Formats: sequence, structure tokens, C-alpha cells
Amino acid sequence: MAATKHSEALDPTFYKPAETFFSAFSNVGLTFDDVTLATAYSEILPRDTQLDTQLAGGLHLNIPIISADMDTVTEARMAIAMALNGGLGLIHYNMPERQQLSEVSRVKNNVHGLIQDPIKTAPDQLIGDVLTLIEQKRFAFSTFPVVDGHGKLVGLLPSHVVKPRYAKKKIAEALTPRSQVQTVNKKELGRDPIARADKFFNEHPGIHKLLVVDDHDRLHGLFTLSDIERINQERNAQFKPARDAHFRLICGAAVSATRNAFGELDRERILAHVGGLVERGVDVVAVSTAHGHSKGVGETVRTLRSAFPKLPLMAGNVTSAAAVEFLADCGADIIKVGQGPGSICTTRIVAGVGIPQLTALYVTSRAARKKQVAILADGGITKSGDIVKALTMADAVICGGILAGCPETPGDVIEIGGKLYKQYRGMGSLAAMKTGSAARYAHTNDPTRKVAPEGIEALKELSGSVDRVLSQLIGGIQSGMGYVGAVNLEQLRQNARFIRVSPAGQREAAPHDVVELKTGN
Ligand code: XMP
Repeated sequence: MAATKHSEALDPTFYKPAETFFSAFSNVGLTFDDVTLATAYSEILPRDTQLDTQLAGGLHLNIPIISADMDTVTEARMAIAMALNGGLGLIHYNMPERQQLSEVSRVKNNVHGLIQDPIKTAPDQLIGDVLTLIEQKRFAFSTFPVVDGHGKLVGLLPSHVVKPRYAKKKIAEALTPRSQVQTVNKKELGRDPIARADKFFNEHPGIHKLLVVDDHDRLHGLFTLSDIERINQERNAQFKPARDAHFRLICGAAVSATRNAFGELDRERILAHVGGLVERGVDVVAVSTAHGHSKGVGETVRTLRSAFPKLPLMAGNVTSAAAVEFLADCGADIIKVGQGPGSICTTRIVAGVGIPQLTALYVTSRAARKKQVAILADGGITKSGDIVKALTMADAVICGGILAGCPETPGDVIEIGGKLYKQYRGMGSLAAMKTGSAARYAHTNDPTRKVAPEGIEALKELSGSVDRVLSQLIGGIQSGMGYVGAVNLEQLRQNARFIRVSPAGQREAAPHDVVELKTGN
């Protein structure tokens, strides 16, 4: 009993909850490596932990990781990979607005259980034409519905006849006729089309395609067994893809506080652009700038909030409690925190401004709690342990550099001295600002004006796929949660106890005094 009492008094003296800990260090800016978390009694196995996070009404992630809205990190391919893993990708805005709209569409239309607009063929085409189409478009499939000029189903061209040997034959001679093609009327699909298709494939062994038609036998879609099986697998996976209410992958897009030629906020253009994003099904729009506690960002958020009352809105970046309150009052649901922690950022060096990230997260998280908005830890994350520390205060993290070496990022693989790299650059670097991101740093694109870049251009060694990188990060987060006895992120926030680490303690935390044969990755 005495021993228990003694330990009850000892631990809190050294290992402190966020309030006590950060208040005690109110005169110093702390970041990830400055602190470590204390272990706590645990009945939680890492594999049983849940990582889902609610960022706003209608915006729920299954893992708390978001890929940064940077032109060397997130376009459709990265956003698809992030959402398939349960996270979210923010499509950057360093591209023409129309292109950003189509990037969002590509994410939203990825993997339908039902392919609503399948590639069709006509009865009088030659099989040779189909072979050319497959080669040109690099289709990975070779079974095609056949329709007449009115869109009416005529039959199905099966893959076993799509061969060079039959190139000169007309499709009409080789197709499986309508009477033998399996179809379902679209009126019979009900509320769960995937379940309907799944039932059909169970009841018809050997059939791999189910076509959807209307009352006039016009083609309206196609289910394939392999898509349905993949979706069923996803349903059993621990971290399911992040999907919207229509079972489409979720996707975010960044916009800036665009100004017109007179330097005024270009409300009309911003509204038209965001309207286009909403039409394409975007799940969240981020007003992304380097200084979120500013008139232009506030007005942009207010304008968007009143035009799109239900659209989840992100805004930033900020590092103070007053800024969180300001953006929340303007109508933001989610606030990006981080000024200068990013791996390619030079804001603190160039402008002398910015706050070490953990202190910034503590200060902003207390204001966010009061205003009931979510916050994102944006920048500076180099390892999974940093994410665990960030999640003791933030609702999710934004990662740039840690994902920038993945093959899913935009841009080519570069070979230098036998090693493979991908380009990674700050959105405030000169090159990125020339391509369009100058507004993010409150500069103009005018080449005659001198601007001070706030980011660098760099390279990241080519890494494994997003799936691989995320599985390492998730493993680390789950491990951290197991150590602090937290089954979910709410408990992680409650159970976190901090202690400051000395420089010697930091050295001790990394591998030391050995010859390293293999890195931890
Ligand atoms: P990491 O550390 O994940 O940081 O590579 C990504 C975040 O850095 C921010 N960012 C910048 N900050 N100058 C800056 O000061 C820049 O040029 C710049 N580009 C990106 C951004 O918040 C991103 O998510």
C-alpha cells in the first residue's frame, strides 16, 4: 500500500499532463524531439487500437494522416492512395483551376463498385480495332459490352475472342449474344448495389461480369467480380478506405485567397472555383496560406462559409490561440497549425517568425477545444514517434516530406550517381511560386518584383509505395498508443504524460555506439 502511494506521488512529479507540462515551459518553444511520452499501465495491444478521427461533420478519416497540398506531393494518384489507406489527400493549387477540378474528379470516380460508364464497342467494329484501343489506352481488361447506335445492349465481347487471330472478324460475329448476357435492371439495385452484385456472383459461379440496363435495355453500367471482391476485402481490413456517403473515395482540395489586379480579394473567382470543386464532390476545401491570421484569409473563409454552409472548411496556417479563435469565428471547421516546422521551410530563417511545433500545437489545441474545431499538425514530421506526440494535441497530421519519396507523388524519378530520387520543394520556394503559389506567401506572380523565398528545392530518395510508408507509420502510432494504454485517439490525448529530454537523452533515443547494418525502415 505504502509502495503504491509512493509511486502515485512520484510519477506525477516527473511525468506531467499537457496543461502542467507546457505551462511550466511557457518561456521556451518546444518541438517533437524536445519531449518524450511516459509509458502507462496498459491492457491495450497495439493491433487493437483505433485510429479514426472526425475532423468535421461529414469528414471522417480512418487514419489521422493527410498528404500535404504541395505540388511535389499531392495530385490525384497520391490522393487516391491516401484515401484507400483511410486517410486524405489535399490536391494542391499550383495548377490551372480546371486541372484541379479534373484531379478531384479522378479521385471521386476511382473504383466504383459499379462502373457507370464502361468502355463500349459497336457490332460493326473489327476485333482488330479493339486490340488497337487496348494497346493505345493501356487497358488492363479485354471484355467489352457491345451496344447499338441508341445505346441498346447487343451482347458482350468476351476476352477469349479479343485475340490477334480474330483481328479481321467483326465484333457481331464473335460476341456472346444478348440472350446469353447476364443483366440486372438498374431499378432492382436498391440501396446497396454492391450487396446486390455480390449476391448475383455467388449465385452464378463462373460469371465475372454483370451488366446494368434500364427498361429499354439501354446499358447503364457494369459490375465486375474482381471489383466486388476488392471491396469486400476492404470491408474486412482494419483500416478501411475513407469514403463518402456514396461510397466514393474522399478527396480534399486547396485554394488560396486569390486577389484581382487591384489587389482586392477576388470573391467571384474563389466562389466559382469552389463551386466547381463542390460539383465534383470535393469533401473538404482548404484555404491554404502561410499566414492564416490575416484579413484576406478570414474574408475568404467567411465568403466560403456563407456560400457553402455545409462544406467542411480547413484554413491556416496559424500558431496562436487568437488565430484559432479568429478562423473558427470566420467559419473554419479545421485549422492547420505550423509556421516554419516543415522540412523544406525557411520561414523562420527568412522572416524570423514561427513557433516550434509542439508548443504551437499545445497553445492552439486549447483554443480549438474551446471553439470546438479540429486542428491539424502541419509540418516537421519525420518519424512515426512525431505523429504520436502530435496526436496528443492534434486531430490529425499533415505530411509532406515523409511521403515525398513515394512513387505516387507527381513528377519523374531522377537518377543521380546510381541513386533514385524524387523532387520535393517548398510551396514558398522560388520555383513553386513562379508556377503559381506566390499568393500563399502574400506575394504576386509579377517577375519584376523581388520576393524572398520561404522554402527550398530539394530531393527525396525514392521510397516504397504510399501503402508501405503508411503501414510503417500506422504501426508506429499503434505501438505508441499501446505504450500509453490508449485504445483510441481520445484516450491518447487523455493519457499522454510529457517529460523534457536533455541533449544526451536525445542522443540516447537514436541508435548509438553500434555499427548500423540495417536502418529501422
Ligand atoms: P514536411 O515537414 O512534412 O512539411 O515536409 C510540409 C509542410 O510544410 C509547409 N510548407 C512550407 N512552409 N515554406 C514554408 O515555410 C515553404 O516553402 C513551404 N512549403 C510547404 C506546408 O504547411 C506543408 O504541409
